[in-house]
Amino acid sequence: MDGTLCDNAVLRDYWYAVARADELHSDPHSVRLLGVDLVLWRNETGTVSAAHDRCPHRESPLSPGTVRDGCLECPYHGWQFSGNGECVRIPSASAGTPVPPRSHLAVVRCSERYGLLWVCLGTPRAEIPHIVEDTRADYRRINTPVEVWQVSAGRMVDNFCDVSHFPFVHTGTFGNDQQTEVPSVSLSQLDADFYGYDYTVEVANTELASSASGQSAGVVQRRMTTGFNLPLTVRSTIHYHTGLDHILLLLSTPVDDTTSLFTFVVWRNDDFSVPAEDIIRFDLAIGAEDKRMLERVPGVMPLDQTALVSVQADRCSVEWRRRFRELLSPSAT
Ligand code: FES
Ligand SMILES: [Fe+2]
Repeated sequence: MDGTLCDNAVLRDYWYAVARADELHSDPHSVRLLGVDLVLWRNETGTVSAAHDRCPHRESPLSPGTVRDGCLECPYHGWQFSGNGECVRIPSASAGTPVPPRSHLAVVRCSERYGLLWVCLGTPRAEIPHIVEDTRADYRRINTPVEVWQVSAGRMVDNFCDVSHFPFVHTGTFGNDQQTEVPSVSLSQLDADFYGYDYTVEVANTELASSASGQSAGVVQRRMTTGFNLPLTVRSTIHYHTGLDHILLLLSTPVDDTTSLFTFVVWRNDDFSVPAEDIIRFDLAIGAEDKRMLERVPGVMPLDQTALVSVQADRCSVEWRRRFRELLSPSAT
């Protein structure tokens, strides 16, 4: 059990965010998930489909093709496939000729949620994590770009569960180098979907941060929770004494063992006066600090608990790692 992701069939049975929904228009979109090349396309009625990016005729990738008459058209010989993968037209065949029985595309499950497109390669073992604020009128949702990080997804989850790097990595955004000690971490079930811990942290409230915190003091206090949902999702909630909530869903999608897609979704119950671009600018700057740090750390996240040294402040990521390892290989624990 070395922590590799692509060769573990269990991970194929979960949902992963692979693209922004508003970025899939008339052209097909290619994405790689767990080492599998996929094509996504949207038909005229808005329905999104996903399939293996390989034409059954001569193995051309389909993602450079086009969407025509609601169907995905292969760029090589123009075969057309409906949203459920059925081959509906072979231009070289005379009218009325039945299509060969194995001419259909291997489709995979695709869903649209939180402004993102999600894909499951196998049979889902769990729902996409539930964010209750998404349906509340007093919260707005802000999406961020989908980035490519040269980081193993497990290392990202480990980082997102960890607060002890704040004063060292986030010095350009909210890191407060006065507070390095992490109070005792007590883990619990935060709600139906997330397991983690709650804590209070004092953070620097720079000019960039003040638009997100809604305060002007030099240092502000945050009540936070951070928790994970297996396999690779993390949610952080930030509560300010003013009543402002800032909720982040941090999504690490394994492209392959050491490359990932990263995007996060923000929900806020503010008065909507701060432009979404300002909120995103602050959070993207935080993400860039994590990315810069993590891209220095090579390889996959070791799952053997004896491979790394951990301290009290690492309890959440240690527990995530234990459960993740058990998920990937139940007999190993
Ligand atoms: S390879 Fe796709 S139609 Fe021939
Ligand atoms: Fe961070």
